[in-house]
Amino acid sequence: FGLQREVDLHLRSFLSQKARKSDNFSDKSPLRTSSGGKLASDGGSDMQRDPFMQNSAVMDRVLHRRSLQIRNKQQEWQESPEGLKMLEFRKSLPAYKERDALLNTISQNQVLVVSGETGCGKTTQLPQYILESEIEAARGASCSIICTQPRRISAMAVSERVAAERGENLGESVGYKVRLEGMKGRDTRLLFCTTGILLRRLLVDRDLKGVTHVIVDEIHERGMNEDFLLIVLKDLLPRRPDLRLILMSATLNAELFSSYFGGAPTIHIPGFTYPVRAYFLENILEMTGYRLTPFNQIDDYGQEKIWKMQKQAQTFKKRKSQIVSVVEDAVEAADYRGYGLRTRESLACWNPDSIGFNFIQHVLCHIVSKERPGGILVFMTGWDDINSLKDQLLAHPLLGDPSKVLLLACHGSMPSSEQRLIFEKPEDGVRKIVLATNMAETSITINDVVFVVDCGKAKETSYDALNNTPCLLPSWISKASARQRRGRAGRVQPGECYHLYPRCVYDTFADYQLPELLRTPLQSLCLQIKSLELGGITKFLSRALQPPELLSVQNAVEYLKIIGALDENENLTVLGRNLSMLPVEPKLGKMLILGAIFNCLDPVMTIVAGLSVRDPFLTPFDKKDLAESAKAQFSGREHSDHLALVRAYEGWKEAERQQSGYEYCWKNFLSAQTLKAIDSLRKQFFYLLKDSSLIDQNIENCNTWSHDEHLVRSVICAGLFPGICSVVNKEKSIALKTMEDGLVLLYSNSVNAGVPKIPYPWLVFNEKVKVNAVFLRDSTGVSDSVLLLFGGNISRGGLDGHLKMLGGYLEFFMNPSLANTYLSLKRELEELIQKK
Ligand code: CDP
Ligand code: MG
Repeated sequence: FGLQREVDLHLRSFLSQKARKSDNFSDKSPLRTSSGGKLASDGGSDMQRDPFMQNSAVMDRVLHRRSLQIRNKQQEWQESPEGLKMLEFRKSLPAYKERDALLNTISQNQVLVVSGETGCGKTTQLPQYILESEIEAARGASCSIICTQPRRISAMAVSERVAAERGENLGESVGYKVRLEGMKGRDTRLLFCTTGILLRRLLVDRDLKGVTHVIVDEIHERGMNEDFLLIVLKDLLPRRPDLRLILMSATLNAELFSSYFGGAPTIHIPGFTYPVRAYFLENILEMTGYRLTPFNQIDDYGQEKIWKMQKQAQTFKKRKSQIVSVVEDAVEAADYRGYGLRTRESLACWNPDSIGFNFIQHVLCHIVSKERPGGILVFMTGWDDINSLKDQLLAHPLLGDPSKVLLLACHGSMPSSEQRLIFEKPEDGVRKIVLATNMAETSITINDVVFVVDCGKAKETSYDALNNTPCLLPSWISKASARQRRGRAGRVQPGECYHLYPRCVYDTFADYQLPELLRTPLQSLCLQIKSLELGGITKFLSRALQPPELLSVQNAVEYLKIIGALDENENLTVLGRNLSMLPVEPKLGKMLILGAIFNCLDPVMTIVAGLSVRDPFLTPFDKKDLAESAKAQFSGREHSDHLALVRAYEGWKEAERQQSGYEYCWKNFLSAQTLKAIDSLRKQFFYLLKDSSLIDQNIENCNTWSHDEHLVRSVICAGLFPGICSVVNKEKSIALKTMEDGLVLLYSNSVNAGVPKIPYPWLVFNEKVKVNAVFLRDSTGVSDSVLLLFGGNISRGGLDGHLKMLGGYLEFFMNPSLANTYLSLKRELEELIQKK
């Protein structure tokens, strides 16, 4: 315990020292990342930041001269043949008719709410109108427009498009910035960034100095960051009367936002889309002649499925009796898995399983072979489903034939080279099919889509505040989403939309989706509120458009106290301040910081990168067993998914050095792409830690203990606590329990799943998700003493308080071995205190 106390003291002085060091640089953004030197400093022009220039007439003159140069350059482009052609296209967009009205309203009002159908030109045009009018007024060198996007992919795609429309390369007047990546130059005046990036900027620049316009896009999505940003901006507006705020939304609920900002003016851009014909399940079955398997021909596997579904349906019924009865009355004959599920229940428990891939495949075949040319956009529930469906379709004689079909999947974190294919027109005679999640609803525009297939569900994170458990369940989309999805088919000509659910189910959809703030854990958000010094968390959040439940807020605050980011009075601790600067979840940030302190940075960076990108271990549908045993090899006897990841990554690096990276990945069921993403994220972490002076220049020094598996395990435990479950090895099985949920299960691809024995009394885990049972993803075994020494926050109520809290766990689990370790540690502690 002496050791722990010393470590704790060391940590405090270390962190406060580092914090002081980084304070010296507080005029720089902590996010200045070094991605190949592409990024310049944040904020307005460099000239504005130069202290010698400020407050001087010289500066005004220089700015003016520069503005005139910028204006000439813009004119040159607009008069060039390509520029004229581009301008013509831009003038054909519905937004163009409103250009003057938009600019006038913006000049006369501080806040404007703009709505308009997807594709009418909000995102690409409105920020450009502002930029152009500033340039025309010879203010080109001093304006600074920030346009936020909810997703990385849209920030990147849109900035690229806008730069092209201005005849420039990215990084000239138009740039982008997303987490750990960006393209932005000295002359960048229009910056597309994720909402998170703007929030981070507010951390160091509370008044958004130098920014002239903030445009918040896609507010109808009601993402957590956007809702949060609106509260902050609402407070900022009176302090910055010259700042302009424009909110943009694809749907017509502009009133809500307008009244939030005291009755701000709204402008609706009347859209132009071609009519889209909607088919619902009943029509589709008829049209495509989908033949149902007679009930008595269903095989055993199918029977078992039905039985499971019936059981699920019963529980489902209790909760959602209303929807069920509507569905039951409507359609009885639907085959959602190709098993001929003619039961009423198969419709009632409409989970992704019940939207059969065979059925989707059948609909796609119908379109490809019978309907006119045009791209197909398929809305699926989630990435797993997209991958499995893609595999299935690739094996199909028609849909898998590359001379006839270009099959693409679209995902937020995919590499940009692949993204581009989605927007490009395929060769003549080839039909493009894009499988996407709900992100393709509004923020990206695929022009040549004529057919939309809509499965009606989206995987939505929700949050069960009572059990403090995040849930990831496919749930019905809203009417607004269904409308959006349908609209995607009418971009270039009249289109068709296949809704794979009955009309009566559509009728039960909610009008709009529940805002994210009301359905996710709030830890990162609360940390941000604290670090932005926005006052009491509860009070601040009560000013949101729709405030979250008190219980969710309390859970988040309690969590931050447990991990030591907040003290008992809800003040930010030194650790908390450092965590708020790192662009990862608090627990992962804590792991990084401890990895730096304990000089075992390399493996810890790999783990944190892996947890924030995605799992590099692939589990193909048909080779699940092989893939799982490949992964198990990496874990050896370590009983840790996190260490398995480290071993896999290190093996890959070695293989890369010998030019055999791809073979290595193939053999071990690893995704080379994900490993590359992890590799680059690791580099970013390293620069970030260096920039915030958390580590030495010399990477060797950060890795003195990297080979020490026990230490790395301890750091994992420190980061993931209180994500902990007890392990009871029984004769034939292993029982896992957490304090909140009771019995829990492991995902089958965990190295700890299906083993005869786990020789550790505890597992720490990264994430638990409630599907039908509670499942743990990625776990690592830890011993009693590691849990006692590294679990939780020792500064909370002193060592005694810490032990008391762990004692709470002890009582709950009634675990005698932990009790012994606990008692002996406590004795040692008491002696220590008496001596001192
Ligand atoms: O934001 P909103 O949905 O209103 O539309 P936008 O993203 O500004 O797109 C306006 C138009 O620009 C679209 O209708 C497309 O025709 C075109 N566009 C494009 O050709 N390529 C892109 N990457 C983005 C937009
Ligand atoms: Mg848009």
